[in-house]
Amino acid sequence: MVQLAPSILAADFARLGEEVEACERAGAHRIHIDIMDNHFVPNLSMGPEVVGACRRHTGLPLEVHLMVERPDSLIPAFIEAGCGTVTVHLEAGPQPHRSVALIHRLGARAGMAINPGTATSLLRPLLPEVELALVMSVDPGFGGQQLLPQSLPRLREVAKLISRLNPGCELEVDGGVDCDNVSSCVAAGATVVVAGTSVFAASGGTAAGVGCLLKRISGGAGGQLS
Ligand code: DX5
Ligand code: ZN
Repeated sequence: MVQLAPSILAADFARLGEEVEACERAGAHRIHIDIMDNHFVPNLSMGPEVVGACRRHTGLPLEVHLMVERPDSLIPAFIEAGCGTVTVHLEAGPQPHRSVALIHRLGARAGMAINPGTATSLLRPLLPEVELALVMSVDPGFGGQQLLPQSLPRLREVAKLISRLNPGCELEVDGGVDCDNVSSCVAAGATVVVAGTSVFAASGGTAAGVGCLLKRISGGAGGQLS
Protein backbone atom coordinates (compact mmCIF):
# COMPACT_ATOMS: atom_id res chain seq x y z
CA MET A 1 0.00 0.00 0.00
CA VAL A 2 1.33 3.46 -0.90
CA GLN A 3 1.75 5.77 2.09
CA LEU A 4 1.25 9.52 2.42
CA ALA A 5 3.75 11.56 4.47
CA PRO A 6 2.69 15.21 4.93
CA SER A 7 5.73 17.51 5.24
CA ILE A 8 5.19 19.95 8.11
CA LEU A 9 7.50 22.48 6.44
CA ALA A 10 4.34 23.94 4.89
CA ALA A 11 2.26 23.77 8.11
CA ASP A 12 1.22 26.73 10.22
CA PHE A 13 3.99 26.48 12.83
CA ALA A 14 1.94 28.46 15.34
CA ARG A 15 -0.64 25.63 15.24
CA LEU A 16 1.68 22.72 14.61
CA GLY A 17 0.02 20.34 17.07
CA GLU A 18 -3.42 20.84 15.51
CA GLU A 19 -1.98 20.51 12.00
CA VAL A 20 -0.37 17.18 12.79
CA GLU A 21 -3.53 15.95 14.50
CA ALA A 22 -5.58 16.95 11.44
CA CYS A 23 -3.26 14.90 9.19
CA GLU A 24 -3.66 11.85 11.41
CA ARG A 25 -7.45 12.17 11.57
CA ALA A 26 -7.63 12.53 7.78
CA GLY A 27 -5.73 9.27 7.26
CA ALA A 28 -2.08 10.26 6.62
CA HIS A 29 0.34 7.44 7.35
CA ARG A 30 3.41 9.23 8.73
CA ILE A 31 4.76 12.74 9.31
CA HIS A 32 7.75 14.05 7.32
CA ILE A 33 10.00 16.59 9.04
CA ASP A 34 12.47 18.60 6.93
CA ILE A 35 15.67 19.71 8.61
CA MET A 36 17.74 22.39 6.84
CA ASP A 37 21.05 23.89 7.97
CA ASN A 38 21.74 26.83 5.60
CA HIS A 39 24.83 24.97 4.34
CA PHE A 40 23.65 21.87 2.49
CA VAL A 41 20.63 23.91 1.38
CA PRO A 42 20.13 27.69 1.42
CA ASN A 43 17.48 27.67 4.14
CA LEU A 44 17.09 27.03 7.83
CA SER A 45 14.21 25.11 9.36
CA MET A 46 13.93 23.28 12.67
CA GLY A 47 15.71 21.14 15.23
CA PRO A 48 14.98 18.07 17.38
CA GLU A 49 12.68 20.05 19.73
CA VAL A 50 10.12 20.31 16.93
CA VAL A 51 10.22 16.53 16.51
CA GLY A 52 9.54 16.17 20.25
CA ALA A 53 6.61 18.59 19.95
CA CYS A 54 5.09 16.55 17.09
CA ARG A 55 5.66 13.34 19.05
CA ARG A 56 3.35 14.67 21.78
CA HIS A 57 0.52 15.28 19.29
CA THR A 58 0.44 12.11 17.21
CA GLY A 59 0.97 8.39 17.32
CA LEU A 60 1.96 8.36 13.64
CA PRO A 61 5.54 7.39 12.73
CA LEU A 62 7.80 10.43 12.41
CA GLU A 63 10.47 10.56 9.71
CA VAL A 64 13.17 13.17 9.56
CA HIS A 65 14.78 14.29 6.29
CA LEU A 66 18.20 15.71 7.08
CA MET A 67 19.23 18.28 4.46
CA VAL A 68 22.36 19.08 6.39
CA GLU A 69 26.12 18.75 6.16
CA ARG A 70 27.78 16.43 8.68
CA PRO A 71 24.50 14.69 9.64
CA ASP A 72 26.12 12.25 12.06
CA SER A 73 26.42 14.77 14.87
CA LEU A 74 22.65 15.44 14.71
CA ILE A 75 21.32 11.92 14.23
CA PRO A 76 21.25 10.84 17.92
CA ALA A 77 19.20 13.86 19.03
CA PHE A 78 16.55 13.26 16.38
CA ILE A 79 16.20 9.59 17.25
CA GLU A 80 15.99 10.43 20.94
CA ALA A 81 13.25 12.97 20.16
CA GLY A 82 11.10 10.22 18.65
CA CYS A 83 12.02 9.75 14.97
CA GLY A 84 11.67 6.19 13.75
CA THR A 85 13.22 6.86 10.35
CA VAL A 86 16.18 9.12 9.60
CA THR A 87 17.06 9.99 6.00
CA VAL A 88 20.41 11.52 5.07
CA HIS A 89 21.61 12.79 1.69
CA LEU A 90 24.09 10.90 -0.42
CA GLU A 91 25.60 14.28 -1.33
CA ALA A 92 26.05 15.35 2.31
CA GLY A 93 29.44 13.74 2.77
CA PRO A 94 31.88 11.11 1.60
CA GLN A 95 30.93 8.42 4.14
CA PRO A 96 27.22 7.66 3.78
CA HIS A 97 27.62 4.05 5.00
CA ARG A 98 28.80 5.41 8.32
CA SER A 99 25.61 7.46 8.76
CA VAL A 100 23.47 4.43 7.89
CA ALA A 101 25.35 2.29 10.42
CA LEU A 102 24.91 4.95 13.11
CA ILE A 103 21.15 5.22 12.46
CA HIS A 104 20.78 1.44 12.68
CA ARG A 105 22.91 1.22 15.79
CA LEU A 106 20.58 3.69 17.48
CA GLY A 107 17.56 1.57 16.56
CA ALA A 108 15.99 3.60 13.74
CA ARG A 109 15.31 2.90 10.06
CA ALA A 110 17.71 4.50 7.60
CA GLY A 111 16.86 6.38 4.43
CA MET A 112 19.18 7.62 1.65
CA ALA A 113 18.15 10.65 -0.42
CA ILE A 114 19.44 11.89 -3.76
CA ASN A 115 19.08 15.33 -5.33
CA PRO A 116 17.69 15.73 -8.87
CA GLY A 117 21.23 16.31 -10.20
CA THR A 118 22.66 13.08 -8.80
CA ALA A 119 22.83 9.97 -11.01
CA THR A 120 20.41 7.33 -9.71
CA SER A 121 23.08 4.64 -10.16
CA LEU A 122 25.07 6.22 -7.31
CA LEU A 123 22.41 4.86 -4.94
CA ARG A 124 23.36 1.30 -5.89
CA PRO A 125 26.02 0.68 -3.20
CA LEU A 126 23.69 1.94 -0.48
CA LEU A 127 20.43 0.30 -1.48
CA PRO A 128 21.07 -3.12 0.07
CA GLU A 129 21.55 -1.43 3.45
CA VAL A 130 18.68 1.05 3.75
CA GLU A 131 14.97 0.78 4.46
CA LEU A 132 14.07 3.78 2.28
CA ALA A 133 15.37 5.53 -0.84
CA LEU A 134 14.26 9.14 -1.33
CA VAL A 135 14.23 10.62 -4.81
CA MET A 136 14.03 14.41 -4.59
CA SER A 137 11.72 15.78 -7.26
CA VAL A 138 12.87 19.39 -6.70
CA ASP A 139 16.20 20.80 -5.63
CA PRO A 140 15.84 20.72 -1.85
CA GLY A 141 15.65 23.81 0.32
CA PHE A 142 12.15 25.16 -0.09
CA GLY A 143 8.57 23.97 -0.16
CA GLY A 144 6.15 25.06 -2.85
CA GLN A 145 8.30 24.30 -5.91
CA GLN A 146 7.16 22.51 -9.07
CA LEU A 147 7.95 18.82 -9.51
CA LEU A 148 10.73 18.39 -12.09
CA PRO A 149 9.32 16.16 -14.88
CA GLN A 150 12.54 14.14 -15.15
CA SER A 151 11.72 12.85 -11.64
CA LEU A 152 9.34 10.28 -13.15
CA PRO A 153 11.96 8.38 -15.19
CA ARG A 154 14.32 8.70 -12.22
CA LEU A 155 11.73 7.05 -9.96
CA ARG A 156 11.40 4.24 -12.50
CA GLU A 157 15.19 3.77 -12.52
CA VAL A 158 15.41 3.57 -8.73
CA ALA A 159 12.37 1.27 -8.56
CA LYS A 160 14.20 -1.11 -10.90
CA LEU A 161 17.36 -1.01 -8.77
CA ILE A 162 15.29 -1.65 -5.64
CA SER A 163 13.55 -4.66 -7.14
CA ARG A 164 16.97 -6.16 -7.93
CA LEU A 165 18.92 -5.20 -4.83
CA ASN A 166 16.49 -4.84 -1.91
CA PRO A 167 12.83 -5.46 -2.76
CA GLY A 168 11.66 -4.48 0.74
CA CYS A 169 13.11 -0.97 0.45
CA GLU A 170 10.58 1.88 0.29
CA LEU A 171 10.78 4.42 -2.54
CA GLU A 172 9.83 7.93 -1.49
CA VAL A 173 9.23 10.96 -3.71
CA ASP A 174 9.60 14.45 -2.24
CA GLY A 175 8.99 17.87 -3.74
CA GLY A 176 6.15 19.43 -5.69
CA VAL A 177 3.80 16.47 -5.35
CA ASP A 178 0.15 17.42 -5.69
CA CYS A 179 -3.21 15.95 -6.57
CA ASP A 180 -2.54 16.30 -10.31
CA ASN A 181 0.81 14.48 -10.41
CA VAL A 182 0.66 12.04 -7.49
CA SER A 183 -0.76 9.16 -9.53
CA SER A 184 2.09 9.54 -12.02
CA CYS A 185 4.59 9.30 -9.15
CA VAL A 186 2.90 6.14 -7.88
CA ALA A 187 2.78 4.66 -11.39
CA ALA A 188 6.54 5.35 -11.66
CA GLY A 189 7.12 3.28 -8.52
CA ALA A 190 6.84 5.60 -5.51
CA THR A 191 5.61 3.75 -2.42
CA VAL A 192 5.76 6.76 -0.09
CA VAL A 193 4.61 10.21 -1.16
CA VAL A 194 5.74 13.39 0.63
CA ALA A 195 3.51 16.43 0.24
CA GLY A 196 3.80 19.81 1.95
CA THR A 197 2.06 22.62 0.11
CA SER A 198 -0.62 20.38 -1.42
CA VAL A 199 -1.59 19.28 2.11
CA PHE A 200 -1.23 22.33 4.32
CA ALA A 201 -2.09 25.02 1.76
CA ALA A 202 -4.96 23.07 0.17
CA SER A 203 -7.89 25.36 -0.58
CA GLY A 204 -10.25 23.27 1.54
CA GLY A 205 -7.80 22.98 4.43
CA THR A 206 -5.38 20.33 5.66
CA ALA A 207 -7.88 17.47 5.91
CA ALA A 208 -9.10 18.13 2.37
CA GLY A 209 -5.51 18.17 1.11
CA VAL A 210 -4.81 14.79 2.70
CA GLY A 211 -8.13 13.45 1.42
CA CYS A 212 -7.48 14.42 -2.20
CA LEU A 213 -4.00 12.87 -2.24
CA LEU A 214 -5.20 9.67 -0.55
CA LYS A 215 -7.99 9.31 -3.08
CA ARG A 216 -5.59 9.67 -6.02
CA ILE A 217 -3.04 7.33 -4.42
CA SER A 218 -5.63 4.64 -4.10
CA GLY A 219 -6.58 4.95 -7.77
CA GLY A 220 -9.31 7.60 -7.55
CA ALA A 221 -10.14 10.00 -10.40
CA GLY A 222 -7.23 11.90 -11.92
CA GLY A 223 -5.05 11.55 -14.99
CA GLN A 224 -1.38 10.67 -15.20
CA LEU A 225 1.36 12.84 -16.64
CA SER A 226 3.38 11.27 -19.42
C1 DX5 B 1 12.08 20.29 0.08
C2 DX5 B 1 11.60 19.38 1.20
C3 DX5 B 1 10.25 18.85 0.96
C4 DX5 B 1 9.21 19.91 0.87
C5 DX5 B 1 8.00 19.37 0.22
O1 DX5 B 1 13.34 20.77 0.34
O2 DX5 B 1 12.45 18.28 1.36
O3 DX5 B 1 9.86 17.86 1.90
O4 DX5 B 1 8.90 20.47 2.10
O5 DX5 B 1 7.14 20.44 0.10
P1 DX5 B 1 6.26 20.68 -1.19
O6 DX5 B 1 5.31 19.52 -1.21
O7 DX5 B 1 5.62 21.99 -0.91
O8 DX5 B 1 7.17 20.70 -2.38
ZN1 ZN C 1 11.66 16.38 2.67
